[in-house]
Amino acid sequence: MKNNYAYGSLAAFLPLEPRLFPFDPAAIFGRQAPLEVEIGFGTGEYLVRMAAAAPEKNFLGFEQCARRVIKTLRKIHEARLTNVRVMRMDVVWALQYLLTARSLARVHCLFPCPWPKKHHARHRLFSTGFLRLVNNRLVDGAELYIVTDHAPYAAWIAENIPGSGFDLNTRIIPPTFDTKFERKWSAAGQSEFFEMALTQAAHQEFPQPGVYAMKTYFIDQADCLNVQLENVWGPLTIKFGEWLYDPRIRKAVVDAVVSEDDRAQHIWIVVIHTAKGWCVCPAGGTVVLPTEGAQKAIDLVAQAVRASAV
Ligand SMILES: C[S@@+](CC[C@H](N)C(=O)[O-])C[C@H]1O[C@@H](n2cnc3c(N)ncnc32)[C@H](O)[C@@H]1O
Repeated sequence: MKNNYAYGSLAAFLPLEPRLFPFDPAAIFGRQAPLEVEIGFGTGEYLVRMAAAAPEKNFLGFEQCARRVIKTLRKIHEARLTNVRVMRMDVVWALQYLLTARSLARVHCLFPCPWPKKHHARHRLFSTGFLRLVNNRLVDGAELYIVTDHAPYAAWIAENIPGSGFDLNTRIIPPTFDTKFERKWSAAGQSEFFEMALTQAAHQEFPQPGVYAMKTYFIDQADCLNVQLENVWGPLTIKFGEWLYDPRIRKAVVDAVVSEDDRAQHIWIVVIHTAKGWCVCPAGGTVVLPTEGAQKAIDLVAQAVRASAV
């Protein structure tokens, strides 16, 4: 039987690809317009409503949960919106690597994960460092708009304001946004939420890290049963998993956990025999943020493959 629910559109979905760096809104949306970002859009109610209410603006949403991205894509398609794009991506990396200084007209975040346990607090998003990053990516005088259900999180954000270049204005508001998480807290009896409007008072400097092209290697000679990979330790950490070589198809794979700037990505690297030699590159389907560390992991595999033949 035909599954009608399978039907949808990926038109608003931007897969993480090196060609997107640095983000060029005019090329992606096909027009110049103010660009607003939503952090952690969840199931997309607020993002879709904002985009429908302001067709003269462009909207870009970041969400880590794949299931929620799919639900949001359905809503965008049903609403026939052309001014919104979504990415499945950690917003810290998105702001750091993808988006450029003074490119955002407004940033929104409804009900950021509060990480209430003390030993989880390091996962909280709105540290002074992250606020400085958002500040840098906003156009002068623009606003970061946060709503939280969690009083200690609101207090923690307020503590992080000094040094961020923002002025803060907090209000208590009733349920207003009808998002999945607001409905959840309302159903649990919560009737007051913390609306935090952070207005940029002083632009902050924040360096734009380099983006690497993700070089593919071709190596003439290799002994793939004799590849020795060395881990890297320090501010940039690269930890290789087990090497697996299938001689039948002359192909090897290895997982590299690359940690830099306090965040980690898993990269599957493949080594495969081709007419041009042994090819070393990210495995097909792997999403790689093209950082210095990602390139270094590929370089190290290529070096080890080259050394294996000696
Ligand atoms: C508590 S939910 C709120 C969702 C939605 N705003 C709402 O009101 O229903 C927080 C959302 O932020 C997403 N999220 C958390 N950290 C993120 C990050 N670093 N980058 C992108 N999304 C993130 C989570 O996957 C989750 O969907």
